[in-house]
Amino acid sequence: MVEGWLFLCIEGNMLQGKKIVLGITGSIAAYKSCLIIRQLIKKGAEVQVVITPAGKEFITPITLSALTSKPVISEFFSQRDGTWHSHVDLGLWADAMLIAPATASTIGKMAHGVADNMLITTYLSMKAPVFIAPAMDLDMYAHPSTQQNLQTLQSYGNHIIEPGTGFLASKLEGKGRMEEPENIVACLESFFSQHESMKGKKVLITAGPTYEKIDPVRFIGNYSSGKMGFALANECANRGAEVELVCGPVSTSMQVKHPLIHRVDVESAKEMYEACMSLYPSMDSAILCAAVADYAPETVAEQKVKRTGDDLVIRLKPNPDIAASLGQIKRDGQTLVGFALETNDEETNAQAKLKKKNFDFIVLNSLKDEGAGFRTDTNKITILTADGKQEYPLKMKAEVAKDIVDALERMSVK
Ligand code: CTP
Repeated sequence: MVEGWLFLCIEGNMLQGKKIVLGITGSIAAYKSCLIIRQLIKKGAEVQVVITPAGKEFITPITLSALTSKPVISEFFSQRDGTWHSHVDLGLWADAMLIAPATASTIGKMAHGVADNMLITTYLSMKAPVFIAPAMDLDMYAHPSTQQNLQTLQSYGNHIIEPGTGFLASKLEGKGRMEEPENIVACLESFFSQHESMKGKKVLITAGPTYEKIDPVRFIGNYSSGKMGFALANECANRGAEVELVCGPVSTSMQVKHPLIHRVDVESAKEMYEACMSLYPSMDSAILCAAVADYAPETVAEQKVKRTGDDLVIRLKPNPDIAASLGQIKRDGQTLVGFALETNDEETNAQAKLKKKNFDFIVLNSLKDEGAGFRTDTNKITILTADGKQEYPLKMKAEVAKDIVDALERMSVK
C-alpha cells in the first residue's frame, strides 16, 4: 500500500457535524461529486455545493440540491431582487472546502486569483483548509503551467489530492484522473483526525537564507528558497499548532495564508538570532530550517565599494550559531530539531551537529541526491537521532514536512 496520510487508520467519525463547501467544475468526473456528497452526508457532514457555469453542463443543480438538501450556489445573484450570495459568509461557515473535480482552468484561476465566478471568490475568501482533486487528461495535467499552478496552490497551504497517494506526487505517471470518491472522503477524515494533534503547541520555525551586508547594495547570501521551512510551518499549523515563522529574505511569492502562522521577517543572521532567542523560551519546539550564514563582513561599508582594479579583501567574522545557542537554553520538555545539508561524510557530519547543538533529531539532506536541497520542490531526507536513523524516498517538500512533523510529534510525547 502506498504511504501517506490518506491511508491512516481513522478512529471515530471525524466528519460528524463538519461543514463542507464542495466546489464542482466542468469535468466529466462531475458525476462522481454525487458519490462524494452521498458519503459525506452519510458520515454526518453538511454539504454546500458551489458550482461553476461549466460544471452545470455536466451535472444538474437539481440532482445536487436533492442530495444536499440545500440550494446549489452558482451565481453571485440568485434572483433579480438585489439579494446576493455572500462568498465571505461561506468562507467563514466552512470547516473545509473541497474542489472535486478541479479542472486545469479552475486550478489556474485559483493560483492567480482570477475571481470571475462564485467558486473562485469563495476560494479566495476561504478561512478553512482547502482540498483540490484535479481531473483532466494526462497531457493537460503534465503541462508545465498546470504543474506550476498546482505547486503554487500547494505552497499556499492547500492540499492536492491525487490518485493512489492522496497527495501531490513527484512523478506524473497515471495522473490527471480524479481520485476515487471514497479516497477523497478518506483524505478529509484523515485531515480532521490529525487536525487537532498539535493544538495548543507552539513551534518556532526558521526558514530561508540570511543576507550579510557588504555595503548598501551588496550582500553575502545563499541559494535557500525557504520552501522547506514554509512547508513545515503549514504542516504544523494544519495540525493546530501556533507557529512563529522567522524567515530570512525569501521571494515575494513565498506567502503564508494560515491564520495560525505568525511571520517575522529578518535579514541577517544576527537579526534571526535575536528573534529566535526571544521567542524560544515560550515555545514547545523549534525546527531550524534556515540556511544561516556562518560569517558576516566585519564592517559594512557606508558607501558603495568602488572598483579599483586591485584585489579586494573582505574580512569576515563569525555569526552567532542560533541552533547551538537554543540548544544551550533548551529546557526539559522542549524539542529542538536541526537540519544538515552536506556534500560529503554526510552521516558523520550530521551526527556531530546533532550532539554539538543539542538537537533531539537532525534532518539530513545530501547535495549528492538529485532533487534534494536548495531551490527544488522536492527533497530526500534521512532523520537521525542519537541512536538510530530513518531514510525516506524523494518526495514533494509538503510531504517531507509531514514526515518531519510526524517525527517531531513522536519525539514530543516521549
Ligand atoms: N544553524 C544556525 N545558526 C547558524 C548556523 C547554522 O541555527 N549560524 C542551524 C541551521 O539552521 C541547521 C543547523 O544549524 O539547522 C546546521 O546548519 P549547518 O549550516 O549545516 O551547520 P554549521 O554548524 O554551520 O556547519 P557547517 O560548518 O557544515 O556549515
